Amino acid sequence: MSAKSGNNGDRPTVLITGGSKGIGLELAKQFAMHGCNLVLAARSETDLKHAAGQLESETGCRVAICPLDLNADGGPTELHRQVSERGIQVDVLVNNAGVGDVGSFAESDLNRQLDMLRLNILVMTALTRLFLPGMIERGNGRVLNVASLAAYFAGGANWATYVASKHYVLALTRGLARELSGSGVSITALCPGPTATGFVTESGAGDMPIYKWLPKLSPSKVAEAGYRATMAGRTTATPGLLNKTLAFLGELPPRSIAQSVFGFLSRNPPPRSTGTGRVS
Ligand SMILES: NC(=O)c1ccc[n+]([C@@H]2O[C@H](COP(=O)([O-])OP(=O)(O)OC[C@H]3O[C@@H](n4cnc5c(N)ncnc54)[C@H](OP(=O)(O)O)[C@@H]3O)[C@@H](O)[C@H]2O)c1
Repeated sequence: MSAKSGNNGDRPTVLITGGSKGIGLELAKQFAMHGCNLVLAARSETDLKHAAGQLESETGCRVAICPLDLNADGGPTELHRQVSERGIQVDVLVNNAGVGDVGSFAESDLNRQLDMLRLNILVMTALTRLFLPGMIERGNGRVLNVASLAAYFAGGANWATYVASKHYVLALTRGLARELSGSGVSITALCPGPTATGFVTESGAGDMPIYKWLPKLSPSKVAEAGYRATMAGRTTATPGLLNKTLAFLGELPPRSIAQSVFGFLSRNPPPRSTGTGRVS
């Protein structure tokens, strides 16, 4: 995207799901520091207000907030409606909100698994479908999908559904990148390895070797790489040399070698307690 914007004044507007914390908040800082206005969506209004206040005072950008549960029925459509009703043109869509759930599939909480798949797959697909046509019509726009290093290791055990969900994000991004070629709109998958955010304890991933042994990157480093790749129109970005090497390994045939390495790094997580609460 050139730094063009339509009806938002002279700054492009970036919509970031899960923009109140972690990688999403750091992506918000990156875009704001580079002259963009923001729309942030997440469930906690308190966190969103706090993030908006901080971003506005530190960068001088304008921040609109949309407190909503994207997993609620019609969540993505509701976000699209709220943004359109405020007359905001979205120049960059960042599908960042996502959750994880580590542990044996057979012992997992079904509701938690389904909520994860809904957010990681269906919500990002729906938002992309809703915001993309406007970008294509204007011949200008960017989409950034936050996938994971795990996306390169489809078939990974002990968080098989999470890994499969992120493989979907990478596959969709690659497919759409081809479809969008020459349209003026680019789409990027950011594939972070272990990153120091609330995700680590929320998902249970912190007990896995991959999170214990590999250095965790800061969310700001991850966001910086994501911002650069998005603005350069690159299809994928994997921050960190070790993560890049693992992603490269994940692409190599035969896939079974990569799956064995990843299986080793993801082995034997302790069982997670089964509750019925929603994913947070
Ligand atoms: N941290 C890692 O090691 C790592 C590695 C690879 C990929 N990732 C990916 O990076 C992305 C961001 O994760 P993070 O590490 O930054 O986690 P985080 O710090 O827990 O942030 C998650 C964000 O998503 C929002 N969110 C969660 N559920 C939501 C829902 N139903 N509706 C609306 N917003 C929701 C949260 O706000 P509320 O709770 O207020 O809704 C929060 O803003 C995810 O897609 C994750 O899979 C993370």
